[in-house]
Amino acid sequence: MEFPFDINQLFSERVSILDQTLVAGRKSAGRPDLQEQIATVIDGLGKASAKAQQLPAPITSASKLQSQRHQIYLLKDGEHSGGRGVAVGFLKVGYKKLFLLDRQGAHIEAEPLCVLDFYIAENLQRHGYGLELFDFMLQHKNLEPVLMAYDRPSPKFLSFLAKHYCLTQSVPQVNNFVVFEGFFHNKTAAQLRKVPPKKLEGEIKPYSLMEREVVRQEQKTLPWPFAPPQSPQRSVSSQCSHSLSVGSSPSRMPPRFAQSASPGGNRDQSPQSPHIDRCRARRASSLNRSQLGFH
Ligand code: ACO
Repeated sequence: MEFPFDINQLFSERVSILDQTLVAGRKSAGRPDLQEQIATVIDGLGKASAKAQQLPAPITSASKLQSQRHQIYLLKDGEHSGGRGVAVGFLKVGYKKLFLLDRQGAHIEAEPLCVLDFYIAENLQRHGYGLELFDFMLQHKNLEPVLMAYDRPSPKFLSFLAKHYCLTQSVPQVNNFVVFEGFFHNKTAAQLRKVPPKKLEGEIKPYSLMEREVVRQEQKTLPWPFAPPQSPQRSVSSQCSHSLSVGSSPSRMPPRFAQSASPGGNRDQSPQSPHIDRCRARRASSLNRSQLGFH
């Protein structure tokens, strides 16, 4: 995404990490003019993301970022646009207190890092940029994707998670957050807590209010799932074959293990996770097999 100012001047690193301060590195600290431009970039990407997901309004904007304890990883390509650079996309994450159901249906209180919004510019999708950004975030947080929760992932994002991280088996939830098999296995007792039965009957709601729902309420539309499907992304239930978060998760596409890795993107930055390595090794092996003519 191009802007009428120098992206390279705003963001010195290929991936910048932004928070409430709207400061990207030393350059923009104490420079309201640059912070205004950073806000323009976030707003532009946030609007494009909402459009791509058929959301009634952006869930990512500079003003929202200033008031929430979230982080945005913003990826630029410094070579494009006559050397001024372009904003390629962003990934927004934040911790959320969630009430989740484990495989046995027990209510578990957890506060995982959640993927809240994720967008790569339309013309740059499927070139490996999403993977580069996601891997950067995983390394920065020193986290495995199976330990994260996903706020109503779109079919494209589910396909992305299946392809790159082998995340295909979700554990059914009663809210719009998706967690995958393995989420409950790898946590220490301090991170996951069974909710006392007394509270379950009482004041604790079974799920946290999502930003996407807040946006819908702000827009005074019927909340999902009561609103009619607005896009192919939100109405692909016929294409679904695997488990859903009970009652309210979005429909999703079947998992796909594509035979070829996307070109582009810096795969060297991927974290050394056995789970991910296994997934990638399987992809590489199936690629070799198909190149050698095995079926
Ligand atoms: N259709 C289906 N799958 C797709 C598509 C698509 N149009 N685009 C990407 N993918 C998935 C596929 O698994 C693809 O592998 P394949 O090409 O072999 O089928 C894989 O992602 C490609 O990986 P990358 O190139 O690293 O991903 P990309 O740079 O395209 O980024 C992203 C992925 C962020 C999901 C991007 O496609 C996008 O911005 N989509 C629109 C917005 C969106 O749906 N965001 C997620 C919202 S949900 C949330 O944030 C919690």
